[in-house]
Amino acid sequence: SNWNCPKSQKEIVEKLLTGLKRLEYRGYDSAGLALEDGEDVSRTTAKVFRETGKIANLEGLLEASEKDLHGDLVFESHCGIAHTRWATHGPPAPKNSHPHTSDEENDFLVVHNGIITNHQALRETLQRKGYMFESDTDTEVIPKLTKYLFDKFHDKCSFRQLVMEVLRQLHGAYALAFKSRHYPGELVAAKRGSPLLLGIAEGPHPGEQHALVTSEGFVPTSKRAKRTSMEFYFASDASAMVEHTKRVLHLEDDDVAHIHNGGYGIYRMEKIHTEGEDSPSLAYAPTVKSAEVERTIETLTMEVEQIMKGNFDHFMKKEIHEQPDAIQQTMRGRVVFDADGNVQRVFLGGMVDYLSTIRRSRRIILCGCGTSYNSAIAVRQLMEELTELPVTLELASDVLDRQCPFFRDDSIIFISQSGETADTLRALEYAKSKGALCIGIVNVVGSAISRATDCGLHINAGAEIGVASTKAYTCQITSMVLLALALSEDSRSRADRRMDIMRGVVTLPDTMRRALELDQKMLALARTLVDENSLLLFGRGYNYATALEGALKVKEVALLHSEGILAGEMKHGPLALVDETLPLVVIATRDSSYLKQKSVIEQLRARDARCILIVSEDDDSLDKFASNEDMIIKVPEVCDCLQPLINIVPLQLLSYHLTVLRGHNVDQPRNLAKSVTVE
Ligand code: G6P
Repeated sequence: SNWNCPKSQKEIVEKLLTGLKRLEYRGYDSAGLALEDGEDVSRTTAKVFRETGKIANLEGLLEASEKDLHGDLVFESHCGIAHTRWATHGPPAPKNSHPHTSDEENDFLVVHNGIITNHQALRETLQRKGYMFESDTDTEVIPKLTKYLFDKFHDKCSFRQLVMEVLRQLHGAYALAFKSRHYPGELVAAKRGSPLLLGIAEGPHPGEQHALVTSEGFVPTSKRAKRTSMEFYFASDASAMVEHTKRVLHLEDDDVAHIHNGGYGIYRMEKIHTEGEDSPSLAYAPTVKSAEVERTIETLTMEVEQIMKGNFDHFMKKEIHEQPDAIQQTMRGRVVFDADGNVQRVFLGGMVDYLSTIRRSRRIILCGCGTSYNSAIAVRQLMEELTELPVTLELASDVLDRQCPFFRDDSIIFISQSGETADTLRALEYAKSKGALCIGIVNVVGSAISRATDCGLHINAGAEIGVASTKAYTCQITSMVLLALALSEDSRSRADRRMDIMRGVVTLPDTMRRALELDQKMLALARTLVDENSLLLFGRGYNYATALEGALKVKEVALLHSEGILAGEMKHGPLALVDETLPLVVIATRDSSYLKQKSVIEQLRARDARCILIVSEDDDSLDKFASNEDMIIKVPEVCDCLQPLINIVPLQLLSYHLTVLRGHNVDQPRNLAKSVTVE
């Protein structure tokens, strides 16, 4: 939304499209945008464009309709909304894409991230009142309900009050933006359960150069644009706005933001709705009371370059190769050295007040989804060893399904790259309701999980854009290794072990750089595997997680069936699949499981299995078991509990090359989204 900031329609479309492209990684099966059209703002109408597929398709549609747009027309104030969709209700189709509209005149237009759980009841009520629905989505009830309430009460309420009345009827999760031709140049946005940021930028004022906003930190929320012109951006994540502004505020649940009169205000509703009230009653006059509140403006630390591919063909490749630096960032300020440069101890600023509570807990529970869950598996053994506490693992969705018994004296670590994954967030809310101590291991600063946990560590991996998580995985493991070290600090008997691990930790970036030299080797291996239908990976101990995470990478990006198997279970089923055709990966680097893995390899070779072996670099004793030279992968050695950080690298590279060779989309695999903000 621009205010007193003349912009041509073309520039506005470009800004919306670039914003969408930056968010495309979150979900991308269709997209749409709406903008004002016509010179007289007071009689303005809205044009809506919606298309399935990638943002490029929407761009194509806009180009094809250029004659209908007034590209060079300059607007004094303007507001546009845009959306990229990842289908939940209704297949990808233009009619199911956002913005959704209230009627043919496009009186009210809405974009939505989240799920409206009582949409069926609302739809039926509105249908009884004569509204016709065109889409299969849950979202469409929102603009229709807005129109219904507007027709009834518009003389009594502002745009903001109208939206609050609508929100009162909605159950579920949302980040919403509303636009209406009845309120030209205004925009209302609201949030509950799904992330939403407001970015504030100063536009160049006619006759003035970029004037700087002087106040930092706390500012009155309804700060009006006086001397300068303002631009306001709403988005689900900062990457959509970072090239225009670094000044953002995070909206809280049940906040309603209103852009009007050249400024913004954040308002809180006193009451949203009564849970369980499923059949909506629309027969009341607007009653929602609201109060204006203040929110802190924060400065983004993200740089635009972080969300660009640089010299790499794909984000996934860039992020794999960024791992040495990313791990360095995870360790920065947390590993303490003495004057001679020898590593001394681990210091976790945000955790000091909580370590003794965690040590006294009945158990530690690690909870997450997808790759984040695999990182929990990778550190479980070490955390048990160093804390001598039972450490259990929970998939976030299962916590809710089973209504897990959580207790006040549990310490629960929630692991999430995005910090927004709905299942993890719900599990966290559940854990809080049980009184457990909640710790976050999160990448995105300011995300819901990082704000809702009692304490935690930011993994500081930098923006991760590729849907398949790579550097977040290794930085999550590193963060939790540091946490385990800090938790065991008062144990004298484990001092030597801690020192070994810490020495390993500081060499990780260099060791990982050496592992990345396997790139061409993994390309050669990928060439031999490109036409396979299945790949099994066997690991155990510290490297069970490596097998699972390697398999997850291969299946999610290369779209090749793959399974990670605990090698100890081999004889209890998987062995039946083994023959001379199926390729298998066995992780057999040197640690306490080495001899057992050697015996697994022998048993597999006895059945003529095609074995790909991941072994320590100076270990030649297993060469004879690999099916050919391509199939023996030698990785640099580190301390046993850190070895999964190195062993995953060749598997990440393998899945990357397999994906490219098989002709699939590396950064945006079919049907998957980076940040799953719906349950
Ligand atoms: C999605 C992504 C995965 C990710 C998982 C958990 O499924 O595609 O790559 O591991 O969510 O995400 P989080 O942001 O919570 O780590």
